[in-house]
Amino acid sequence: MKNRIKAYSFLTLIIFANGYAQNKKHMDYKRPIEERISFLIKEMTLEEKVGQMNQYNGSWDVTGPKPESGSNEEKYNNIKKGWVGSMLTVRGVKEVRAVQKIAVEETRLGIPLLFGFDVIHGYKTLSPIPLAEAASWDLEAIKNSARVAALEASASGLNWTFAPNVDITNDARWGRVMEGAGEDPYLGSKIATARVKGFQGEHFDNTSIIACAKHFAAYGFVEAGREYNSVDMSNSKLYNTVLPPFKATVDAGIRTFMNSFNTLNGIPATGNVFLQRDILKGAWGFKGFVVSDWASIAEMITHGYAANGADAARKAVVAGSDMDMESNVYVTELVKLAKKGTVKESLIDDAVRRILRVKFELGLFDDPYKYCDEAREKSNIGNKANNEDVLDMAKKSIVLLKNDKNLLPLKKSGAKIALIGALANDKNSPLGSWRIAADDNTAVSVLEGMQQYKNNVLVYEQGTDVALNKQSFLDEVKINSTDFSGFEAAKKIAKEADVVVMVLGEIGFQSGEGRSRTELDLPGNQQQLLEEVYKVNPNIVLVLNNGRPLALPWAAEHIPAIVEAWQLGTQSGNAIAQVLYGDYNPSGKLPMSFPRNVGQCPIYYNLYNTGRPTDKDNNVFWSHYSDVEKTPLYPFGYGLSYTSFAYKNLKIAKPSFQKGEKIEVSVDVTNTGNFDGKEIVQLYINDPVASLVRPIKELKAFELIELKKGETKTIHFVLSDEALGFYDNDGKFLVESGLFNIMVGWNSNEGLSSKFELK
Ligand code: BGC
Repeated sequence: MKNRIKAYSFLTLIIFANGYAQNKKHMDYKRPIEERISFLIKEMTLEEKVGQMNQYNGSWDVTGPKPESGSNEEKYNNIKKGWVGSMLTVRGVKEVRAVQKIAVEETRLGIPLLFGFDVIHGYKTLSPIPLAEAASWDLEAIKNSARVAALEASASGLNWTFAPNVDITNDARWGRVMEGAGEDPYLGSKIATARVKGFQGEHFDNTSIIACAKHFAAYGFVEAGREYNSVDMSNSKLYNTVLPPFKATVDAGIRTFMNSFNTLNGIPATGNVFLQRDILKGAWGFKGFVVSDWASIAEMITHGYAANGADAARKAVVAGSDMDMESNVYVTELVKLAKKGTVKESLIDDAVRRILRVKFELGLFDDPYKYCDEAREKSNIGNKANNEDVLDMAKKSIVLLKNDKNLLPLKKSGAKIALIGALANDKNSPLGSWRIAADDNTAVSVLEGMQQYKNNVLVYEQGTDVALNKQSFLDEVKINSTDFSGFEAAKKIAKEADVVVMVLGEIGFQSGEGRSRTELDLPGNQQQLLEEVYKVNPNIVLVLNNGRPLALPWAAEHIPAIVEAWQLGTQSGNAIAQVLYGDYNPSGKLPMSFPRNVGQCPIYYNLYNTGRPTDKDNNVFWSHYSDVEKTPLYPFGYGLSYTSFAYKNLKIAKPSFQKGEKIEVSVDVTNTGNFDGKEIVQLYINDPVASLVRPIKELKAFELIELKKGETKTIHFVLSDEALGFYDNDGKFLVESGLFNIMVGWNSNEGLSSKFELK
């Protein structure tokens, strides 16, 4: 079983610097990088080249005793031979330095290693899960959050993150929806760009880490939301929905891609020539390298696409997978295949060139220890500034779903508040499931956050357990659905309170990799607890903690106030308390539709109209369900504020435009409520007649604005042909003349509409 929990250290070795590399032309930093790479490749044996394409998980004690047997000894020896290009999950300056030293000082050519790690939403100080961050629609904040992650990870010796996950998805059953930016390709592309820029920084100094766009491609569309399942989709859907965020990362200068576990139309992504060669390295001109997903090369055998390790290695390298993460088939098979002529050495050279290019660009040849600074490791990780930044991101990620009777914000004094729910006192779940470097129990809980407001009386009862076992990355969460013994105590404090705050939802390890669900309800007894408490005191603020959209129709109907607070990372409880008490006016909008029930999945706003969208004949023969409305419970782009906004005067500069002309759109937005606040103004288009059916709405622009009480701003949008066109099934981008509908509004379902013609 893969062990990435921790890479310990092996014996600090007596290192003999052989000086070999120092004399070589590739070490001349004045020469252009491509020339340096060519010199180096000429020096390399076939084994050393293939070695660069080999990545190992550091599953042994890096600074402890040298491994004496098994795969760890083999890994260790292969590093010494120069047959390893990168390690994953080795972290911490001492450990990174120890391994880097072997690669640089004990191997013939001294090629430094890349150290990769899943820095998905922070390293030790965790930001909200990416789906939550996406709800902020705040690109500067998202970029800054990735910067904080890069600062900490780079201070720990790392130079490469396996993020951002830019998988568009519309099926909340899939556990990995928490890692991405939700269902929309436009929002997803903007966020992907922001995250790449945050991780990689302006230039590659020692606070920059290489980003990795994953999972290439279409992983977010696994059938029935079941993890690692297959994907079948039309090319036009692939081009219009799945690929845009990946393309955006290439445009933003990303250096690595990771392929994915799924098949796409019958071909594993890892062995997919069309994706990796034709699109990524061909049409998009990507100059970086592609790493496989964990063992995904060998898994092509299990998929039924490769006969054995050698066949899998051949298919993967031909398809453009440059680095083998833990399949161990490149290092065992590629040399033989190249010697037989089954794999052309030029393919290997191309992969090696790409990998070396990244190492040169990062400056590792000039200073292989540039990330190994003990002083920085001490001062840059978990510090105050990072905590302030993730708190800021956490507040911006919260979405107010309902606030009847203005139950929120809470009064700051003189109130008796009952706080209920195991998740209210959980310091682990807010960290999510990708928190490999964070210590257990390091999130601020809601209880702790609310205790900061001392002028109210706050009483707490958990009401019911949610998880029955200890939270762990590798294990399934066992959920309590039989023990109701805490209900009475919870009801008692609820009865005596003015307001009840209930924190309910999912355990951190119920979403993420390997964590698909077939129910989207509140796990275990929590729904019953909610209904029981409601009977004694309906003044409930429901705070949701979850890693995916949940389907909560009963709560949406009965509970007066609902706050979507996801898994918000280290500062979770402080962020939630500040929003509940009105010290921060919530401004987030949903990046994924919330269904009414699981049977509606996949559900998304940018769907096709169908031939029978309404019940105009008043019978059953139209596109709908017999038992539930077909609309989502909360649509994409939805979110409230403590204040209110009014939209007026939607204007399009002219009734018709020539292709190539800029289309100017404006709208007036006024803060009509009693608080200063932020609004996310969203612009959607619809192309009602096209050579391929187009979605009923597509987000094409948005702006995050701040308005003081009573203030009005005019918002200007400019659309170009790029916003109006689409890809056909051959991947050709078409801009077709005709009528276009425009909606500018406050969510994907509501706003002001107008139209124009494109000639
Ligand atoms: C995941 C990747 C991750 C890799 C390395 C795989 O199982 O799918 O997203 O980067 O492991 O940990």
